[in-house]
Amino acid sequence: MGRSLGVLVVEDSEDDALLVLRELQRGGYKVDSERVDTAAAMQAALARRRWDIVIADYAMPTFSGLAALQIVKDSGLDLPFLIVSGAIGEDTAVEAMRSGAHDYLMKGRLARLVPAVERELREAQVRRERKQAEESLRHAERLAALGTFAAGIAHEINNPLAAIQMTARHGLKVNGNPQEVETILREIVEDTERCGRIVASVLQFARKQPSTKAPVPLAEVLQAACARTQTYAREGQVRVELHVPDLLPTVEANATELEQVFINLITNAVQASRAGQTVVVRAERLADRVRVRVEDHGQGMSAEMRAHALDPFFTTRASEGGTGLGLSMVHGIVTGHGGKIDIESQLDRGTTVTVELPYSEARNQRGPS
Ligand SMILES: Nc1ncnc2c1ncn2[C@@H]1O[C@H](COP(=O)(O)OP(=O)(O)OP(=O)(O)O)[C@@H](O)[C@H]1O
Ligand SMILES: [Mg+2]
Repeated sequence: MGRSLGVLVVEDSEDDALLVLRELQRGGYKVDSERVDTAAAMQAALARRRWDIVIADYAMPTFSGLAALQIVKDSGLDLPFLIVSGAIGEDTAVEAMRSGAHDYLMKGRLARLVPAVERELREAQVRRERKQAEESLRHAERLAALGTFAAGIAHEINNPLAAIQMTARHGLKVNGNPQEVETILREIVEDTERCGRIVASVLQFARKQPSTKAPVPLAEVLQAACARTQTYAREGQVRVELHVPDLLPTVEANATELEQVFINLITNAVQASRAGQTVVVRAERLADRVRVRVEDHGQGMSAEMRAHALDPFFTTRASEGGTGLGLSMVHGIVTGHGGKIDIESQLDRGTTVTVELPYSEARNQRGPS
């Protein structure tokens, strides 16, 4: 039994259609076909079942090969399309090929038909396989991206969670001193609010909305980040000093994300520092942007470590629960705000991370109003 072939023939002449089908049968195909000669009939035939190939006449009284080709294209089906025509000039043939027909043949000379069909079926198969491979690659990439994204969320929520835990533990030791208990509860409330903001920004990201930006007073963001890392730093006996000039402009930013940037940088600096050392956070205004430096005198990085520091999942702190996502998130947020990040580091000398962010258009923080 021959290979089966579903052929949609676009042809007004029954006889010409038969000639084509007979040639295919001679070539060993078991042909299953339908003949149409109007756009409506063709659309209905395409919708009804799957075809292997379309063979169309070039000129018909009420339809044309090029119009048929357009219908196949509009359908989104990747179907081999051959034109078999009585009289087709070279120009017309070129035009047909340019429009996407896979081959054209003369009605009187159908010897080339079977090889052309075979070749087009093979190529369509190759295209299908390639498309499938691309789709599974995209799927794998999406999964990988999702994994990174999920790890990123876990990482960001871990920071305030650790702070809440530490504050609550401290609370257990203060023996009911009402003022201290109040301070502790306030810190816990602030950290849970921070978790809530992170979740909200994740949900926004999931809905594919760009993060909302507004003019943000950078000084307040830096103060909040220092406050959020205070307990952690105190635990390691590291001081965090903040130097902000009086008139620091606003930056066009998402405040939660920006706070994340500095919390990460300060946390890294504290982790690299030894007991008794100081981490300095210094902001300064330049002509068209602000620069913030986070400087520590701790363990520093080798050139090799420095080269990979921004890579997602690069960490030398895996045993202490580091995910290696902090700096890659920082990098993503800073570049997403039109800014840049630079890391200078020397082993056993310390590290300075510099973040530069453009001013917001509305320079509404030039001075107190
Ligand atoms: N201030 C710093 N001093 C020395 N090394 C640093 C400093 N900041 C980052 N690094 C190095 O870069 C690596 C990556 O930092 P990143 O913040 O991305 O992840 P992490 O701190 O290891 O983990 P996580 O942020 O999840 O706690 C760190 O493991 C560390 O080796
Ligand atoms: Mg980190």
